Amino acid sequence: MPTPYSSPIGVFDSGFGGLTVLRELVKTLPEYDYLYLGDNARSPYGTRSFDTVYRFTLESVEYLFDQGCELVILACNTASAKALRTIQQHDLPLLGAQKRVLGVIRPSVEAIGELTKTGHVGVLATPGTVKSESYVLELAKLYPHVRVFQQACPMWVPLVENGEQDSPGADYFVERHVKALLEQSPDIDTVILGCTHYPLLTPKIRQYLPAHISLLCQGRIVADSMREYLGRHPEMDARLTRSGSRTFLTTENPELFNRPASVFFGEEVSAYCISVS
Ligand code: DGL
Repeated sequence: MPTPYSSPIGVFDSGFGGLTVLRELVKTLPEYDYLYLGDNARSPYGTRSFDTVYRFTLESVEYLFDQGCELVILACNTASAKALRTIQQHDLPLLGAQKRVLGVIRPSVEAIGELTKTGHVGVLATPGTVKSESYVLELAKLYPHVRVFQQACPMWVPLVENGEQDSPGADYFVERHVKALLEQSPDIDTVILGCTHYPLLTPKIRQYLPAHISLLCQGRIVADSMREYLGRHPEMDARLTRSGSRTFLTTENPELFNRPASVFFGEEVSAYCISVS
């Protein structure tokens, strides 16, 4: 377990997906300490109700705060869509006014809005994220001229969680959902993977997406935005410790976590099992 005296950057996801974000964070900001928490025992979140995702996410954020994190990134679109605002507005003042919780949707929206030329953008995400309309609402605030076309991909997380991302089954579901997205507008020129699990399906998604359409993955976007955030907030930056440690926690059995986690993270992972509820 991490030392009680460190103040790592907390990275939270319902399961494995946030590791695709952590992977880019450690590339961009390698000197910081990181504490990853995957709530694998209760994933997937994508099909759960608003209240359940909020409650599960809050429990995990509290756990990370208790471990010394001053800053927690919800590296999960579903949690960012359904829990971030309430945690920021309602819970943070009670949990520690100087602590921060950030999500992945805002930086992604900024990147999409800057890139699109046609003003027609596509979002591939879990049913929960699509239903929350978070991308639509955030884009309307920042780029009112942009039209958003969303496609829920309920099978993609289970495929990836089960290591089936290269299987013929994955082809079937990737083709089906990408087609359904493109049918909504012939002018889509930018597509965002609005779920941190989906980067593992990138080769297949790219296969069904015409070459002129840009495909955005969130890892790099979030890592760049974190670097800017820390530059703008030196008081937070000063509170974070930098010994380059990476600690992995899961609410499941680590034997079930470590191998798939290593695929998502791109390096060997050895996790501790914890309970947040
Ligand atoms: N990785 C999560 C996201 O970015 C979703 C996974 C889940 O459904 O739990 O939305």
